[in-house]
Amino acid sequence: MQMGSIEIKRAEMAERDREAPDYEHTWRPAWIPEIELPLVIDLLDVQPGQTVLDLGAGVGRVTRELVGQGRTIVALDYSLDSLRMNRQHLKAVGNYHGRVAFLLADATTGLPFPAESFDRVACIQMIQHVPTYTERVRLLSEAYRVLKPGGVLVLTTYNRSFMAILRRRRDGFHGGKIYYHLFSVAELRRLLRAFGKRRLFGILNLTPRLYGKPFSSLLERVIQRLPISYLTGSVLVARCVKT
Ligand SMILES: C[S@@+](CC[C@H](N)C(=O)[O-])C[C@H]1O[C@@H](n2cnc3c(N)ncnc32)[C@H](O)[C@@H]1O
Repeated sequence: MQMGSIEIKRAEMAERDREAPDYEHTWRPAWIPEIELPLVIDLLDVQPGQTVLDLGAGVGRVTRELVGQGRTIVALDYSLDSLRMNRQHLKAVGNYHGRVAFLLADATTGLPFPAESFDRVACIQMIQHVPTYTERVRLLSEAYRVLKPGGVLVLTTYNRSFMAILRRRRDGFHGGKIYYHLFSVAELRRLLRAFGKRRLFGILNLTPRLYGKPFSSLLERVIQRLPISYLTGSVLVARCVKT
């Protein structure tokens, strides 16, 4: 029997709760956060005093970087245990009180903020887990609504890369429990069309064996600048400005 959107989301919530304590230790090869995270922080380019919405904040990989820089942040997720873990990690950073608000909510059902509330929205490794096209549209139109004019959205998601096309992969479930969708660059560009300025590119363009080898960082950065990264990157990155 096929699962509907609500069942898919419930399954993810339960699995995210279960995996929250170990999330950052288990599934990510080190080279993913090493390349993705500094890039995301750089593209967000948060200025002192700005407000940031971390959509699908999880256990706080991004939240933690932002609070380290002294920003005001709302960390939103629909997994309660992930948010608990996020707060626990932040305690280690210290001095986060009053800077981070945690919000348990489904980001695809409308965001509980007035229009133009945030200077920055981060949507990192989250939209691929939204099961339907309609919900993806809703998520991004809400991200657009809550951004101030001139505000920036930074989004990363799975790419339907050349290898994925060869393997005929488009949708699936991690461990049979967490739904994911692979985006083509054209599809993601269409979803982001409301934003006046958009820059899209692929990252993690090399095979895992090449990371850590001499010149791999340079090669990775060069490919990121070329349209071929739409096909070779495992992850798509979008930086969009609400003009
Ligand atoms: C792969 S994790 C990424 C977490 C974090 N952004 C990072 O990059 O480390 C995806 C997160 O998005 C959350 N998520 C997925 N769909 C969501 C939704 N519709 N509303 C709120 N959170 C959602 C999941 O619970 C999970 O914590």
